[in-house]
Amino acid sequence: MSTTYVFNRYGGPEGQELVDRPVLEPGPGELGVKVYAAAVNPVDWKIRSGLLGQRQPLPAAMGREVAGIVTAVGDGVDGYAVGDEILGAVAPGHGGFAKHTIVRAVDAVAKPEEVSFADASTIPIAAATAYDGTHQIELEAGQTLLILGVGGGVGLMAAQIGKVHEFTVIGTASESKRSIVESTGATFVPYGENLARRLREIAPDGVDLILDLVGGDALREVAELATAPRRIISAADPATAIELGGSALNRSTESLAKITDVIAYGLVDPHVSARFPLERAGEAIAAVEAGHATGKIIVEIIAA
Ligand SMILES: NC(=O)c1ccc[n+]([C@@H]2O[C@H](COP(=O)([O-])OP(=O)(O)OC[C@H]3O[C@@H](n4cnc5c(N)ncnc54)[C@H](OP(=O)(O)O)[C@@H]3O)[C@@H](O)[C@H]2O)c1
Repeated sequence: MSTTYVFNRYGGPEGQELVDRPVLEPGPGELGVKVYAAAVNPVDWKIRSGLLGQRQPLPAAMGREVAGIVTAVGDGVDGYAVGDEILGAVAPGHGGFAKHTIVRAVDAVAKPEEVSFADASTIPIAAATAYDGTHQIELEAGQTLLILGVGGGVGLMAAQIGKVHEFTVIGTASESKRSIVESTGATFVPYGENLARRLREIAPDGVDLILDLVGGDALREVAELATAPRRIISAADPATAIELGGSALNRSTESLAKITDVIAYGLVDPHVSARFPLERAGEAIAAVEAGHATGKIIVEIIAA
């Protein structure tokens, strides 16, 4: 059996529970995976709350990004064998906060030996999103990247990617995140009153890209700083970005392998700030749902 964390009704966290399910065989193109670590993302609670629709049959398994070891290989899969260490996004209909899950081979890459399972579990969604968000509009060295919500899972990695490319990185976060944000080389700006004016003092000519990880009024307030409206990209609130003349953050297929290499070289640290055992997956989700996570919060199924 595979102990799996699910929600059994759309809405609040009361519907979440740990259940035992049979270990499923991978279908064509899929890998069966023994999960070592699964990272938490805002999308976990957004799906459960019904914010993104109510399409999944219930109970629905939670957790979208994992790292683990291949236990079974589906038909038509080349390049993977039982025993391989991999990381990947969980296949639709399956969940990562579980002892076993299913990952489509096209959504997986080999886990580099030098990357821990904990760090690897943050790559398929958070790190790959940070990569896409810093490449969708190409900046040159010396250009300015403003990241709203820089202290969270995607933001801290986006700031480090920006520094690798020698962008001037400015990030907004709460005061509690000052030192971790500054450790990435970014200029820290606390959010709050007169944010646009304070940012303008630091970037008098405006910024070449706004990567928005917060949305709503936080984005509206600073949008005027973008040197052109199309230089606004949002992972958190595509509708507001589009209304302002920007766009949604688009995920690419290349980013997974590319950011995995960058992390293996030690150029970007996923900043895993808290680990919870599977029995306490609900606390891990709640910590992200509270909206003030620092770096990545993970569920560690097997400590390695
Ligand atoms: N489209 C995609 O593929 C995709 C993929 C990944 C994530 N996302 C979305 O991108 C967003 C960020 O994801 P994440 O994983 O980085 O979330 P996260 O780890 O929960 O971090 C969010 C961060 O925003 C900060 N924050 C809250 N209000 C803020 C404000 N007004 N100004 C500046 N910072 C503020 C929070 O802490 P403090 O308030 O303490 O600073 C927190 O550190 C979410 O909406 C998520 O759903 C989309």
